[in-house]
Amino acid sequence: DKGNHRHFMEKEIYEQPEVISHALGHYVDFTENRVSAAASAIDFARIPSLAISACGTAYLAGLIGKYWFERYARLPVEIDVASEFRYRDIPLSPDAAALFISQSGETADTLASLRYCKDLGLTIGAVVNASESTIARSSDAVFPILAGPEIGVASTKAFTCQLAVLAALAVGAGRARGTISIEEERVLVRHLAEMPRIMASVLNAIQPKMESLARELSKCRDVLYLGRGTSFPLAMEGALKLKEISYIHAEGYAAGELKHGPIALIDENMPVIVIAPHDRFFEKTISNMQEVAARGGRIIFITDERGAAASKLETMSTIVLPNVDELIAPMIFSLPIQLLAYHTAVFMGTDVDQPRNLAKSVTVE
Ligand code: M6R
Repeated sequence: DKGNHRHFMEKEIYEQPEVISHALGHYVDFTENRVSAAASAIDFARIPSLAISACGTAYLAGLIGKYWFERYARLPVEIDVASEFRYRDIPLSPDAAALFISQSGETADTLASLRYCKDLGLTIGAVVNASESTIARSSDAVFPILAGPEIGVASTKAFTCQLAVLAALAVGAGRARGTISIEEERVLVRHLAEMPRIMASVLNAIQPKMESLARELSKCRDVLYLGRGTSFPLAMEGALKLKEISYIHAEGYAAGELKHGPIALIDENMPVIVIAPHDRFFEKTISNMQEVAARGGRIIFITDERGAAASKLETMSTIVLPNVDELIAPMIFSLPIQLLAYHTAVFMGTDVDQPRNLAKSVTVE
């Protein structure tokens, strides 16, 4: 049932504040502002490293998770798309743990990577939506993302719920490993707790702008997304979402890689979507944006209030989100990216929930 929505994808985008709050309730104790026992089903204090493997959007959630596990828990993370991971002969210690992220819990390559790690003796954790799935049943520890059924082929609420769960796991791992203090844990958990309310207000505020911008995007053949830090995987997720449902060619790049190749593509016909919250990397990303502007590139700037105030550059459009902590920025910044892809596809008249050539669950290699 789509309720008042035209497509399941739209419904699932708007469900995010509610499902994230549900997912967080499982991993976080809001009275104490601590991560709860559900997040410690893997003993993060005792492992030397963590491997992460997944496909598509779930892989991009894992990439953001890598930044968090390294930053908050000082835990080295090896990550790859499952179709590479399973064949790479990665030197993995049996003392390590491996996390497999999958909405469906049935993705063939992800399951094969899991079995590979299991044979090597690693502790297996599954971050899944379908908790009765093969991947869940094959794991030592299951971390449900509690997003509810996701019908749209383009993943939206599963992505942000995967992120919310990975954020809680990374903060919990940081506590277990003593790399963050109880006070730091409390501060981070309070930021997580604010997410549902912020998401609801952002969804409400940006919708009209996303629709008018989508009209512009629907005329383009190519779109480039740029970001640094956790905004880099988000740039790739933005590009994946747009190409999946609108069939517009899009690429996500690390902003710092611009001058190593993609800058050659810049002209007035290819919009550049820059994802840049006012974080540690902001100034660097702004100088990349300047390089785009100097070559006549049209910029769609997705930033926060501080970022908007700090940049004087002229843009095709600037989307201003509230200032939020670095930990929750990827979830908040996912919203404009999802809505932009959604409305562009609606303009182009594609089959948004069932895009051509794609299946919701990829159970063959
Ligand atoms: O069910 P899974 O999470 O294992 O699926 C992985 C990918 O097939 C999936 O995320 C795909 O990339 C989506 N269509 C992205 O929107």
